[in-house]
Amino acid sequence: MNESFLVVGSGGRLGRSLVDCLARSGPVAGLDRKHLDLSDGDGIRRVLDPLEYDHLVLTAALTAVDHCETHREEAFAVNATAAGIIAEVSAAKGARVTYISTDMVFDGTKDGPYSEEDPARPANVYGESKLEGERRVMAASARNLVARVSWVHGPARPAFPEWIIGRACEETHLTLPGDKLCCPTYTLDLIGWLDALWRTPAQGIFHLCNSSPCLWRDWGQACIDLARENGIPVIADTIRPVPVDSVPSFVARRAKNTAMETAKFTAATGIHPRHWREALREFVVQSPTFSRYKPLTHAP
Ligand SMILES: NC(=O)c1ccc[n+]([C@@H]2O[C@H](COP(=O)([O-])OP(=O)(O)OC[C@H]3O[C@@H](n4cnc5c(N)ncnc54)[C@H](OP(=O)(O)O)[C@@H]3O)[C@@H](O)[C@H]2O)c1
Repeated sequence: MNESFLVVGSGGRLGRSLVDCLARSGPVAGLDRKHLDLSDGDGIRRVLDPLEYDHLVLTAALTAVDHCETHREEAFAVNATAAGIIAEVSAAKGARVTYISTDMVFDGTKDGPYSEEDPARPANVYGESKLEGERRVMAASARNLVARVSWVHGPARPAFPEWIIGRACEETHLTLPGDKLCCPTYTLDLIGWLDALWRTPAQGIFHLCNSSPCLWRDWGQACIDLARENGIPVIADTIRPVPVDSVPSFVARRAKNTAMETAKFTAATGIHPRHWREALREFVVQSPTFSRYKPLTHAP
């Protein structure tokens, strides 16, 4: 592809890796919070107006779910209003926008994984604001894409795997929700799936995540088991499951099932996302983040 890309959110976990990967095959520019504050609508127009690009990928968002719950206006300004302005400016240039959205647009009442056809009914303010962002982006141009992702992790910025492995190196007794089902998404896989979609005329909403839903507790257990296998000095053993509603630090409600199916993506591209365990293994083995936990095998 020789089309040019602009990544809004290049300081974040997905945005940073996306800029690095896209730079290997063509022109790409990134904007982080320093260049573009999404809470400033006029500023967005001022920054984007002079820029030329074929694709804009909006990865930036107010992602702190509990903060959003108590800062509704800020959540909607960043996740919905800014997305709408970005999509309008981009549509006027004839550029396509890909809006990275979330599994949290679902309320968790379905028995089984969600498809793109299922009605979205968010259980918290973060999910509501992202759903409104999806609507505004699609209203600006039917050519746009919405990619719903979940439990995002990858090398550019620590996420849940680094957090749970870090805790497992310091504490023996750990708990995690054993009644929350979701699908982990490895950023380096996600970038390959997005690239495949951009090579098709696909438009509208797509679910993109690694295959096979898992419980939060089982994801955490896999993280610490892989860490131990890779020489990281983990002292925790079996993670005890607890109800998600009992986690004292959660302000926003977490839906119990937000697993997503990816059949629509497979039909569009022929790609079957690999199992989350395979992606996690690759991440834990290869990520430089984990090397600081590894005991030295030789004198420095
Ligand atoms: N992480 C997940 O588990 C998860 C799950 C489902 C969906 N998603 C979606 O996936 C996308 C990428 O997530 P991620 O994991 O890469 O998140 P991330 O690392 O938190 O990146 C989000 C970026 O948005 C930036 N940002 C926040 N408020 C901003 C503002 N007012 N103006 C400009 N930039 C602002 C942040 O800047 P700072 O670095 O300066 O804070 C950060 O760089 C997001 O759209 C998110 O909603 C993520």
